Amino acid sequence: MTTPTASDALVFFGATGDLAYKQIFPSLQAMVKRGLLNVPVIGVAKAEWTLDQLKDRARKSVTEHGGLDEAAFAKLCDLLGYVDGDYNDPATFAELRNQLGDAKRPLHYLAVPPSLFGVVADGLQASGSAENARIVVEKPFGHDLATAEQLNAMLHTVFPEESIFRIDHYLGKEPVENLVYFRFANSFLEPIWNRDHIDSIQITMAESFGVADRGSFYEETGTIRDVVQNHMLQITALMAMEPPSHEATDALRDLKAMVLRSMRTLKPEDVVRGQYNGYRQVDGVDPKSTVETYVAVRLHIDSWRWAGVPILIRAGKCLPHTVAEVAVKLRRPPRVVFNESKPGPANIVRFRLQPQVEIAIHARAKMEGQGMRGEDVELKVIEDATDDMPPYERLLSDAMSGDPTLFADQRSVEAAWRVVDPILDNATPVHFYEQGSWGPKEADHLVKDVGGWHVPTAPS
Ligand code: BG6
Repeated sequence: MTTPTASDALVFFGATGDLAYKQIFPSLQAMVKRGLLNVPVIGVAKAEWTLDQLKDRARKSVTEHGGLDEAAFAKLCDLLGYVDGDYNDPATFAELRNQLGDAKRPLHYLAVPPSLFGVVADGLQASGSAENARIVVEKPFGHDLATAEQLNAMLHTVFPEESIFRIDHYLGKEPVENLVYFRFANSFLEPIWNRDHIDSIQITMAESFGVADRGSFYEETGTIRDVVQNHMLQITALMAMEPPSHEATDALRDLKAMVLRSMRTLKPEDVVRGQYNGYRQVDGVDPKSTVETYVAVRLHIDSWRWAGVPILIRAGKCLPHTVAEVAVKLRRPPRVVFNESKPGPANIVRFRLQPQVEIAIHARAKMEGQGMRGEDVELKVIEDATDDMPPYERLLSDAMSGDPTLFADQRSVEAAWRVVDPILDNATPVHFYEQGSWGPKEADHLVKDVGGWHVPTAPS
């Protein structure tokens, strides 16, 4: 396999926007600090700003998000350029082309709403800035299956699939990489990682906060589009995929797409939507809104490995704490050997993905003393490892070096939309829940046969 050529310029559209402020500038400073960025960095926006104003904004951004490193920041400022102009104006792209100088493999990061992807892609092409270039796009990637297909077709008129990097920041998280590593760097999981030994799987993404100032965004989105179609289904795919025979990008992405393609399309009876009390009073939210801030779904993967194993996803805002976790419940031992008053819970292999890395196995062990009585213990494999490379830094560095492993490709994005398409919007009723609860009780019937919901403990 040949090593891809690294990009020799980084352009980011939406330079004066929120994403640039919260994620991009801090990542750029961190990349400079690690010695991973030493090429021109050009911001593009329509704000009637000067380069100095952009530098001021960058300084505020890094100060607020992660901390200012004077030396790295000064170096970043030396690399920074700025183009101010309308995305519909060819002069904007002519100036960008000019500032790109002799860069031969620029990377264009579209930190702008998807409605602008087309116009930016066309402007890049017309000015000659798309040639040999890479493009990074943010979620939401489409609003449903049809719009995702249209978006892909439109981007493909300018960029080949291998040059398109679709960000799903969950894939850049250290604990998510660890899940994949742990599964395939050890031999003891694989023999039991199937329908013969696994009873059910639960994936929880709980957030203790509401939609804050993103009311109008959330009205267009809802939890299914916001985190299930992307983060949750990508995690499910990593958890369920076949073992790759090697580390190559294609292997991993092919295997993930295979899982998503064998996932059964969801039906309304597999889904319970919820909305926290108080959501309708948020700025930008319709007082009669039926948009979900919580969803629980019961999935099935129609493969030899997973046939008959229920996979439950539960995600929502204003839940008791902020935590994301995968819990893989094993089948119980075939016989009760020890005459205990109450048999212990089934073994669970648990991967905590948020806020920190944690891998643990719940088991039973004998209590000290007379008699064969046991207690629940947890074998901790990893706990509290800190992630010193935030997702955006990891993903931007990978995109610059042309490594698409941690990005979602067209097949998996479209397959994931196919799974959720029939349950979007008002396909099912919305049930109200109290803030700080685990969501509407109507969701409980989805887990009746698997022993109830897995409730992640509060992060310490
Ligand atoms: C984003 C969603 O993709 O992920 C947000 O739009 C959500 O609604 C966020 O809060 C969660 O990401 P993280 O990294 O904070 O778990």
